[in-house]
Amino acid sequence: MYSEQALRKDLKTRLFGSKIYTFDTIDSTNNCARALAGCWANEGTVIIAEQQTAGKGRLGRAWQANPNENLTFSIILRPSLPPDALNTFPLSVAVAVAEAVETATKLHVECKWPNDLLIKGKKFAGILLEGSVKQNTIEYVVIGIGVNVNQQSFAGELQSTATSLRLETGTDLDRTLVFHEILRSLERNYRVLCTRGFDTVLPRWLSHSTMINKQISVSEHGNVISGIVRGVSPEGGLILQSNGSTKTLFAGDVTIVGM
Ligand code: BTN
Repeated sequence: MYSEQALRKDLKTRLFGSKIYTFDTIDSTNNCARALAGCWANEGTVIIAEQQTAGKGRLGRAWQANPNENLTFSIILRPSLPPDALNTFPLSVAVAVAEAVETATKLHVECKWPNDLLIKGKKFAGILLEGSVKQNTIEYVVIGIGVNVNQQSFAGELQSTATSLRLETGTDLDRTLVFHEILRSLERNYRVLCTRGFDTVLPRWLSHSTMINKQISVSEHGNVISGIVRGVSPEGGLILQSNGSTKTLFAGDVTIVGM
């Protein structure tokens, strides 16, 4: 079972994790973070749970993770940025998690737009951002992160699409060390994003991406668009060349053709 004291010991961050709420079981750490963010919780507050009974993924999906083996947590941020900047957050968080996992495991991590993290084409981590904008100002952003750390088997169709750091490295990892590395990297990248802008983050995201010039299809609310990825816009959108025209997409579920 998690304890705030144990999780904060040797945590080398200033803001991220300055307060950590730990739960054995909760519906969703994102729900809890949103409730806290709507009241008084400070920026950098973390909510971490061993088990979620209603863990949420993107596009209304569920996020499932075995207790005692993985990381499921959320962080509250209050960035002084215009609401448009929210489209760049998924990519900035993804690259921060990718760099942290690479440091912790020496594995190569791929970023799949907008915010999936893969190793050798299989997903090991996902990010769910939820926010509140009031009077054209970001009130808060909740970043929910699920990382498959030591899980060794996956049910159903996940068997062929999901992986974990344990499966890829062949060794059990210390979840607290992975958590610390991710918080450190998130804090560093958040400062860069807020002070120097997405321009400094995008090249690092691109260096982790295998999507450029690939044929993909993107589905959003039942619509499917196919095309070739030509890049990522300065606003965080996916630039797609499709049927002779260029479109910039800001949401959707991507399938890389041939993967
Ligand atoms: C995705 O890949 O679809 C996003 C998955 C995000 C899962 C995390 S686990 C911690 C936080 N709480 C939730 O309910 N979801 C996020």
